[in-house]
Amino acid sequence: MTDYRTLRVALLGAGAVGSQVAGLLLRHGDELADRAGARLELAGIAVRDPDAERDVDLPQELFTTDAESLIVGSDIVIELIGGLEPAYRLVLEALGSGADVVTANKALLATYGAEIFDAADQVGASVYYEAAAAGAIPIIRPLRDSLAGDRVRRIMGIVNGTTNYILDRMDTEGAEFAAMLTEAKQLGYAESDPTADVEGFDAAQKAALLASLAFHTSVPLERVHREGITHIDPAMVDAARHAGYVIKLLAVCERLDASDSPTGEAISVRVYPALVPREHPLAAVHGANNAVFVEAEAAGDLMFYGAGAGGIQTASAVMGDVVSAARRHMAGGLGVGESTRANLPIVPIGRVTTKYQITLEIDDRTGVLATVAGILSEGRVSIATVDQTVIEDGGVARLVIGTHKAVEQDLSDTVRRLADSGVVERVVSVLRVEGD
Ligand code: NDP
Ligand code: HSE
Repeated sequence: MTDYRTLRVALLGAGAVGSQVAGLLLRHGDELADRAGARLELAGIAVRDPDAERDVDLPQELFTTDAESLIVGSDIVIELIGGLEPAYRLVLEALGSGADVVTANKALLATYGAEIFDAADQVGASVYYEAAAAGAIPIIRPLRDSLAGDRVRRIMGIVNGTTNYILDRMDTEGAEFAAMLTEAKQLGYAESDPTADVEGFDAAQKAALLASLAFHTSVPLERVHREGITHIDPAMVDAARHAGYVIKLLAVCERLDASDSPTGEAISVRVYPALVPREHPLAAVHGANNAVFVEAEAAGDLMFYGAGAGGIQTASAVMGDVVSAARRHMAGGLGVGESTRANLPIVPIGRVTTKYQITLEIDDRTGVLATVAGILSEGRVSIATVDQTVIEDGGVARLVIGTHKAVEQDLSDTVRRLADSGVVERVVSVLRVEGD
């Protein structure tokens, strides 16, 4: 057996992901040593309650409530506590002591990424976070390394398993939103506060991480436009299906050329439920799976697909980072820094251009269609398709209007004018169309 140097690994957190990481470290010690070029010694596991039952059988003597002492003298610190505090403080302590950090914590990186990467730079340490976006799917390394010589134009991702699970079951089985959220919680996909999932906060954090890497630009969380899925009802899902679409919560990160943006090259980062054509690869992403569709200038279209959540699946991505950190520790050299060299401006949602589907209930009488068309035309919104169905004889008709690409601000002003026009009974829904 090769006589490897031993690296001391501290694990913070032994929940859904942490307990699986500990299990893999203990079970595959010899194999990991061969791959990492160092023996990875699990020095201890910091938790809140050392006596709590764990998903994996782990030696009791490893548990401690003293995370600070565990960090001291560690070569690699794995942060799997989640949330902002005490994770932020402990990560800074770990970096300050010269350890490399592995984390799956998207909330932490999307909020304090700049401070954390600065702290790592100052001591030449690295922060690895493959598990922070899209769970088990390798997407951080492909964006940072494999596509480093290319130019990413656009990323469209299903990056939240909980919302995909809910929307998929509503679409395929006519299931109810609330019942599906309960199931997603029971299956361990949802965050401890599922508002983070259904209101799009979790996806927005992941979008900020992906866009920062793809566009070499610092993307603060507050610059990510965010909408959730709580207003999506069965009627909207049905209407989407009949029109050949499926509703997905998408993270869209887009590079706008000088021709698309009057102020020169810029980016847009946004999260919202959108209509995706049934034939698009993202429409076939079912259950809690995630997928990230990347359009790059030279590589063309790439799709990364797999488990976006789940303890053992996410542990796989964490372990990949632990092996990378160990290799770097042994080989020496610079840490994996973050590149913000492009620092492109981020445009507000009002300046984004997409296609839309507007569903209205209108008075079913002569001249109403012409009035609606006139308001759209005045608002610089060009109609691509119109579908009218009478829903109340002699009374109300449902009008589904598909638009060509329009500027978001023009579109929302136009919808407001339609609502106030006197001929529209109700604006049923306004959804963006992506991937068309
Ligand atoms: P859990 O809530 O299951 O586990 C959190 C762990 O942290 C628990 O073991 C808890 O201890 C411990 N902990 C909490 N507070 C403290 C504290 N103050 N000091 C020490 N330990 C503490 O989280 P997950 O495993 O689900 O998630 C971990 C991270 O991975 C998060 O950042 C999450 O966003 C991310 N992630 C999770 C995925 C998933 O599918 N679960 C997928 C991708 C990323 P105790 O057990 O004693 O209460
Ligand atoms: N709650 C998250 C999801 C876990 O549903 O995708 C993975 O980050």
